[in-house]
Amino acid sequence: MNQTKNGNKVQVAVLSELTPGVGKRVKVADEEVALFKKGDDTVLAIQNSCPHKGGPLSEGIVSGDHVFCPLHDWKINMKDGQVQAPDHGCVKRFDVEIEGEAVFIYVA
Ligand code: FES
Repeated sequence: MNQTKNGNKVQVAVLSELTPGVGKRVKVADEEVALFKKGDDTVLAIQNSCPHKGGPLSEGIVSGDHVFCPLHDWKINMKDGQVQAPDHGCVKRFDVEIEGEAVFIYVA
């Protein structure tokens, strides 16, 4: 068995519509999700709402595995959802699976 992922698998994008370093906002069920494609065609998915005051993280500046909130520049790790010091908090992250061109996330 491969690793277990939780939730329902939902297709949210195709790889070619994502641009490395530019977030994309998608809505899945009641969740707003920010997708980020990296240069190696892996994709990270986090809640599209900053834990500070709800800034749209899909519009943030990407640096490696981090995104800077467009409103007040909090730095958030997209792999584990953790806000980086000196600020604190976390956002929800979603498991991602890629099959060919199709990008899926798992939503609880
Ligand atoms: S809303 Fe994101 S840093 Fe303030």
